[in-house]
Amino acid sequence: MSGFFLHAFEHGRREAAKIARRLGTRAAPIRVHKFPDDESLVTVSQADARACIYCPLDRPNARLVELMLAADALRRNGARRLVLVAPYLCYMRQDMAFHAGEAVAQQAVSRLLGSLFDRIVTVDPHLHRVKEISSVFPGTEAESLSAAPAIAAFVKAKALPRDMLVAGPDGESRQWVEQIGAALGCESIVGAKRRLGDRNVAIEFPLHLLNGRAVLLVDDIVSSGGTMIEAIRGLKRAGAGAVRLAVTHALFDPAAEKHMREAGAEEIWSSDSIPHPTNAIPLADLLAATLRRETGVTS
Ligand code: R5P
Repeated sequence: MSGFFLHAFEHGRREAAKIARRLGTRAAPIRVHKFPDDESLVTVSQADARACIYCPLDRPNARLVELMLAADALRRNGARRLVLVAPYLCYMRQDMAFHAGEAVAQQAVSRLLGSLFDRIVTVDPHLHRVKEISSVFPGTEAESLSAAPAIAAFVKAKALPRDMLVAGPDGESRQWVEQIGAALGCESIVGAKRRLGDRNVAIEFPLHLLNGRAVLLVDDIVSSGGTMIEAIRGLKRAGAGAVRLAVTHALFDPAAEKHMREAGAEEIWSSDSIPHPTNAIPLADLLAATLRRETGVTS
């Protein structure tokens, strides 16, 4: 067993254990006690000179504070190299002040994380104007992996119709849509999306009649579900047959899932970047491969 442990909160514990098994190491629990005033007491079980925290950063406001406390505990207990695996990295979308007086959350959060960790690994961060993860974390090793190959491999194993169309709701989804479409040997298209509010979007697809053709709808994040609901409706209006969804980060709640299914989603598959009932696509192989060099074991 290597002296490199993956430390994980209860949220993400199972996914961390899968990665740890692949690395021949252990997932050590990070314990959280909540005080009556909602402050957290965070305790790590052990620390080594090299340590990693696995922490999906959905519901970020509470998790960021507990992550900061866990990093403090590991440093105090001897960690000299500290790696963060945040398969979902929060606050990446607000990368500029859109209106006077707004905070730039991406910069504020990346300053915090960069000050705590030596290396940050994430999956499909939602970057707009800043294109490279290295620019988000200057001075910290930072790595962005893609779930697209894992999604493509998962869908391929389903043996879906050969003429299936791979679609994305907007231009930002093009990078994943084209990669997955190419891996599956399917045609791909993306829609043009206008955001009208937090939960309200309008989407137009460059297509006419789908005549019952199956569609795989792909996106990086599903949050309110508004984008996917509108995309499913547009595809169905164009005559799509079975519409299946494959997403990297499933942030949505049960009500949004119900609405997506009512709109016509036959299947909803997500990667396990965030623990969620729709998880079907494990990222453990991808994450273990990139963490292997931390263990000092190369084969
Ligand atoms: C935005 O460009 C993202 O790729 C997603 O389409 C968006 O975050 C989804 O949000 P919602 O589910 O709230 O429409």
